[in-house]
Amino acid sequence: MQQKVDFLIIGSGIAGLSYALKVADHGSVFIVTKSNEDESNTKYAQGGIAAVWHDKDSIEKHIQDTLIAGGGLCDEEAVRVVVTEGTERVRELIELGANFDKKKDGDYDLAKEGGHSEHRILHHKDITGYEIERALLTRVRKHKNITILDHHYSIDIITQHHLGEEVTSQSKDVKCFGAYILDTKTQKIETVLSKITMMATGGAGHVYATTTNPVIATGDGIAMVYRAKGRVKDMEFVQFHPTSLYNPGEHPSFLITEAIRGFGAVLKTLDGKEFMHKYDERLSLAPRDIVARAIDNELKTRGEDFVYLDCRHIDRKGFIEHFPNIYEKCMKLGVDPFIKMIPVVPAMHYLCGGIQVNKEGQSTIHNLFAVGECACTGLHGANRLASNSLLEAVVFAHRAAKTGIDTLSSLTFQEGIPNWDAEGTENAEEMILITQSQREVQQIMSNYVGIVRSELRLKRAFDRLEIIYKENEALYEQTTVTQKLCELRNLICIGYLIIKHAIQRKESVGLHYMVHYKEHVK
Ligand code: FAD
Ligand code: SIN
Repeated sequence: MQQKVDFLIIGSGIAGLSYALKVADHGSVFIVTKSNEDESNTKYAQGGIAAVWHDKDSIEKHIQDTLIAGGGLCDEEAVRVVVTEGTERVRELIELGANFDKKKDGDYDLAKEGGHSEHRILHHKDITGYEIERALLTRVRKHKNITILDHHYSIDIITQHHLGEEVTSQSKDVKCFGAYILDTKTQKIETVLSKITMMATGGAGHVYATTTNPVIATGDGIAMVYRAKGRVKDMEFVQFHPTSLYNPGEHPSFLITEAIRGFGAVLKTLDGKEFMHKYDERLSLAPRDIVARAIDNELKTRGEDFVYLDCRHIDRKGFIEHFPNIYEKCMKLGVDPFIKMIPVVPAMHYLCGGIQVNKEGQSTIHNLFAVGECACTGLHGANRLASNSLLEAVVFAHRAAKTGIDTLSSLTFQEGIPNWDAEGTENAEEMILITQSQREVQQIMSNYVGIVRSELRLKRAFDRLEIIYKENEALYEQTTVTQKLCELRNLICIGYLIIKHAIQRKESVGLHYMVHYKEHVK
């Protein structure tokens, strides 16, 4: 069966949901999402959303902080757009029902994170993303034009390729006509035709062995667009969060928000000594790439598995009020943060690169937009400033919605699109092959394409990944399509893109640190 919808949105995090609310008065909307409707990176965001909020702060300061963190590689226009329009978009989130913490005097309680020169992070305790997701979903559920299809997995977008035309990476006129969607409860593949498709599939944390991202983060949208011959950029810039909780066996890793360091917590080695003064004058609140690399260096030179975050000197009441979720988690593991230091270690956290989009969120494929973590707007450059990603998602969702609404009436549904072709794929999936290959991909990426890289390591990663790629393509050709098989295929694609872009960049800059290359000078 073929379904038709004006706006097809793939993903139900902050990007997909806020876009849906903006376009829904102008046409029919499907939100396709592969797990429960609220499962997303958004749901786990802790620190908050950055925005210029008081007179001491200024648009220019936030812009400069973003540019500095980005290592000279940000698209300055994108930075200006996000920061300038951001405050208004955050106000809209508040109007939609998102609650951010206030101080006793009624002003917002603004936190500070690494790389920010001012307190400017609006937050809801240490579960900001959960609160934003709750507020957006409440509104989305009430809108009569929006249908949420949970447990529906987008396999591939539909282009002229599916009409039998040749599409290559040189093709200038690729058009998106919708997507093939797997209902993971019935295992049926549906053809959804759309006038406008929005990719809002989030990050790709699970291409590494340790990540703060939930299991949905397998880079599907980026891989779908790459396969469809859309442009993808800046994939070498993988952000490792310096402080995920060191708790071997726990996957994904639990995040210890950077806002705790903004609240006074200090990084120390196992012997209780501070070390950040050796790396940056901003100490524990230096931008993330610097802190993660400093920790990585301490671990490697000292032969230790983790460092400590010392909160013992912090006011107990204030800490528990601001970070109740983290406090509860630590206590459950027997770490009372006022008695013991919290063991932490870097983990893959955020992908700065992604689907190349313009200032309206349009990809290089016609009628296909991308917003949120799967998109690359140029805001982050070589390293994302903390709490800028939720902001980027709402600003670009707004812009993409405006463009989508303006063009909708000129668009029609494509005729003659065939249904999914399952010929020759009768074999049942062999889970052992899939899970083992996924582990291998994650090990390759963590061992050779992590915080510190070298040409030799990248070459080795490329060669190893190629073997897994060939094996998996052969498996994919013969096997009935499942979510797990597609996710593995996408993770291999993401790994390939990260390595390829890393090999192409002959300098050390931001999150791409090569042992033998000089640091990039602006
Ligand atoms: P997501 O919120 O990840 O949503 C993606 C959606 O796409 C999900 O619904 C997923 O199920 C769906 N999906 C994916 N693939 C498919 C498919 N093939 N078919 C159908 N559906 C699919 N940023 C900040 O600015 N501030 C913070 O404080 C902050 N803290 C963070 C803490 C943690 C632990 C993590 C993991 C991230 C944090 N980030 C933070 C980053 C930020 O949360 C994300 O970048 C942002 O939420 C991404 O939003 P999104 O809508 O693009 O993607
Ligand atoms: C954090 O709370 O430390 C995460 C913030 C972010 O990733 O932007």
